[in-house]
Amino acid sequence: MSDPKIVSGLEGVLVTETRLSKVDGTAGVLTIGGFPLEELAPNATYEEVLHLLWYDRLPTTSELDELRGELAGLRTIPEPTIDLLTAAARKKLPTMVALRMGVDTLTLIDVDPSDISSEADMLRVKSVTARIPTVVATYRRLLEGEKPIEPNADIPHAANYLYMLKGEEAHPDAVRALETYINTVVDHGMNNSTFTSRVIISTRSDIVSAVVGAIGSLKGPLHGGAPGPALDMVFEIRKRAEASGKDLKEEAESWAREVVGGGGRIMGFGHRVYKVRDPRADVLGRAAVKLFEGSGDTALYDDATAVEDVVLDVLAELKPDRSIKTNVEFYTALILHGVGMESDLFSPTFAVGRVGGWTAHILEQIAEARMIRPRAAYSGELDRVWSPIEEREDGGNRGG
Ligand code: CMC
Repeated sequence: MSDPKIVSGLEGVLVTETRLSKVDGTAGVLTIGGFPLEELAPNATYEEVLHLLWYDRLPTTSELDELRGELAGLRTIPEPTIDLLTAAARKKLPTMVALRMGVDTLTLIDVDPSDISSEADMLRVKSVTARIPTVVATYRRLLEGEKPIEPNADIPHAANYLYMLKGEEAHPDAVRALETYINTVVDHGMNNSTFTSRVIISTRSDIVSAVVGAIGSLKGPLHGGAPGPALDMVFEIRKRAEASGKDLKEEAESWAREVVGGGGRIMGFGHRVYKVRDPRADVLGRAAVKLFEGSGDTALYDDATAVEDVVLDVLAELKPDRSIKTNVEFYTALILHGVGMESDLFSPTFAVGRVGGWTAHILEQIAEARMIRPRAAYSGELDRVWSPIEEREDGGNRGG
C-alpha cells in the first residue's frame, strides 16, 4: 500500500469534530457556539462567551453571577510567580515570553496535580483563564518599574484586566471595545495554537502544559504576533509621508511594493483559511470606529484604512492568484492601541481572549480521549552500514 499524499501545513485536513466554532473561509463567515460572530462579539460579556464555550449554552442570570464570582475569586497569582516575573522584567523579556513562563508556574497552586477528575480539570480551566490577565498586567507593571496592582474582584473580567494595567477603572467604551475584541478572537477553528493545545492534552498531559504550549505557538509572527508590526507599518508610513511631504497613500504604495517586491510579507493580511475578507476584521473595524469617534480623534483610524486600501490593491496586483485580504490582526492593532495598550501587549491580549477557546478545546479533546499521532514520510538514507568510530573515515555515512 503506498503512503497517502502529504498535505503540507495540514492545509484543509480535518483532524477532529468541534462544536465550538465554524470557520467558513469561502463565504467569510465565523460562527461561535452557534451564534454569528457579528451578533455575539459586540453584545456578550466575556464571561457569557466562556459559559457558552465551556457548557454549550448561554448562562441564565444566576449562572452568570456564579461564573463571574468564581472567576473573580481565582485572579490572584502566587508569590513565586511574581518573583519569576520580576526576574523576567529585570531582563526586559518580551511580555509574551513572560506570560509563557508565568503561566507555567500556576501548577504551584494546584492542590493535587495528580487529580484528573473532571471537577479538578474544570477548576484548572477556570484558574488559568482567570489568571492570564493578572500575569500579563503584573508583568507589564513590573516592566515599567511600577508596583503591580491587585485584581479587583468586584468588576468583570475585561474591566479588571484594564484596571490592573492602568491602576484605575477604564472608561466603559474602552471596556466594551476590549470585550468585543476578546470575544472576537476567543475561538477560531483548528488554528495553530488550539491544535497545539489539543496535541499536548491528547497525551493525557495536564492543562497548564497544554496552555503553555498554545502560548508558545501564538507567539509566532505568522499566528498571533502580527498586530504589533501591522500598527508599526501604519506609523512608519505616516512618518515617511511627513518626512517626504508626499501623500500618505503614495508612501503606502511605495512601501507595500518594496516589501512584497522584496519577497516579504505584510502583517495583518492573508489567511490560511479565509480567501475573502476575514469577518473578524469587520467586527473589529466597526468597534474601532466607535471607539475612535467616541474619543474624538480618528486620525489613526483614517491613516490605517487608507493604508489598508493601498496594500490590498498592491497585493492584488503583485500576487494576483492568491486572494490576500485583510485579516483580524490589522484591526486588532487599532482596537488595542485605542484602548491604550502598547504594541508589546497585543499578542498577550490575544492570549487573554483565546484562552477561552483553548480551554474549551482541551475539554473536548479530553472527552475525545484519542491521542493525536500522525505520521511522516521518511525521506532520509536507507541501508547505511555501521562502522566503529576508530575505523570511520567518512563519518559512517556511506550508503549500503
Ligand atoms: N504579504 C505578502 N505576501 C503574502 C502574504 C502577506 N501578508 N500572505 C501570503 N502571501 C503570499 C506568500 O508570500 C506566498 O506567495 P508566493 O506563493 O508567491 O511565494 C503566497 O501568498 C502564499 O503564502 P502561504 O504562506 O503559502 O500562505 P498561507 O496560507 O500559509 O498564509 C499566513 C497564511 C497567515 C501565514 C500568511 O498570509 C501571512 O504570513 N500573513 C502575514 C502574517 C499575519 O498577518 N498573520 C496573522 C494571521 S490571522 C491570525 C490567525 O488566525 O492566526
